[in-house]
Amino acid sequence: MTMKGSVADLQGKWALVTGASSGFGIDFAHLLAARGANLVLVARRAEPMQALAAKLKRAHDTQCHVIAMDLARPGVGAELHAKVRAKRVAIDILINNAGFGVFGDFVDQPLDNALNMLQLNVMALTELTHVFAADMVKRGMGKILLVGSLGGFQPLPMYAGYAASKAYVLSFGEALHEELKDRGVVVTVLCPGVTATNFLAVSGQKSMPLPDVLLMESRPVAEIGLKALDAGRASVVPGLPNQATAFSNRVLPRSLFPWLAYKLLKR
Ligand SMILES: NC(=O)c1ccc[n+]([C@@H]2O[C@H](COP(=O)([O-])OP(=O)(O)OC[C@H]3O[C@@H](n4cnc5c(N)ncnc54)[C@H](OP(=O)(O)O)[C@@H]3O)[C@@H](O)[C@H]2O)c1
Repeated sequence: MTMKGSVADLQGKWALVTGASSGFGIDFAHLLAARGANLVLVARRAEPMQALAAKLKRAHDTQCHVIAMDLARPGVGAELHAKVRAKRVAIDILINNAGFGVFGDFVDQPLDNALNMLQLNVMALTELTHVFAADMVKRGMGKILLVGSLGGFQPLPMYAGYAASKAYVLSFGEALHEELKDRGVVVTVLCPGVTATNFLAVSGQKSMPLPDVLLMESRPVAEIGLKALDAGRASVVPGLPNQATAFSNRVLPRSLFPWLAYKLLKR
C-alpha cells in the first residue's frame, strides 16, 4: 500500500472498520474508500453508517456492508467473523477503532461503566484481532491497525481504567507486530492525543485544560495511522506535542505525570 491520496492501490480489497458511525471511524472509511477499498462498517448505530455508505458509494463507487452491533459483549469476535463470512467477504485490513473513555475518579463511577469500557477497548479488540489475524496469517497477508491512545503511555488519573486499557492496546499491538511481521501481517498501534471527535462528550469530560494548539483534527490523525500501517511501523504517535509528551514519560520520574495530570484534570 502507498498513501497517495487518490491512487486506487486498495482496489478490490476489503477493510473492516469498527466505530464507523463517528469520529476517527468515519475518517478511516473515507480514506480507505478513496484508495479503492470496499468496506464493512461496524458500530451500534446503523443510521450514520448507512449515510456514510451512501456517500462513499456516490463518491468512489465503494461497496459497503453495514453491521449494527454492540461490540461490548463476550463472543463478538466469532459473531462478527461469521456475519462477514456470510457476506462472502475476506478482510484484508482490520481497523480496530471502536472505543470510549470514562472520565472521573474511578471509585465514584458506576463499576458497570468501567467494565463495559474494558469489554470494548480490550476484550472485543483482542477477539477481533485474533479471529481476523488468523485468516490473514493463512493467506500470508493482511494489515491491522489498533487505535490506542497517548493515554496508554502513562497512568492517567481521572481516566484510570481508560488509560490502562490503552496501555494494554499499545503493549499487545507492539508485541503482535513482532510475532506477525514474518507471517505477512502488519500490526500497527495508532496513539492519538486529544482529537476533535465525540470522545470527550461520550467520556463525560466537559472541558479540556489544554491549549487549543494541542487539539488535533481527526482526519490527519487517521491519515497518519494509515501511513504508519503502510510503512509497517509498530506504533505511531501523531503530532509533535504528543510525541514530546510520550517521550517525556520515558525520562521524567514516573510519579510526576500522574500527579500533574490529576491536578489539571480534577479542576
Ligand atoms: N478523540 C480522542 O481524543 C481520542 C484520543 C485517543 C484515542 N482515541 C480513541 O479513538 C477511538 C475512536 O474514538 P473517537 O475519538 O472517534 O470517538 P467517537 O467519535 O465517540 O467514536 C467512537 C466510535 O466507537 C463506537 N462504539 C462505542 N461503543 C461501542 C460499542 N459498544 N459497540 C460498537 N461500537 C461502539 C461508536 O459508535 P456507536 O455509538 O454507534 O456504537 C463510535 O463509532 C477510540 O478507541 C478512542 O479511545 C480517541
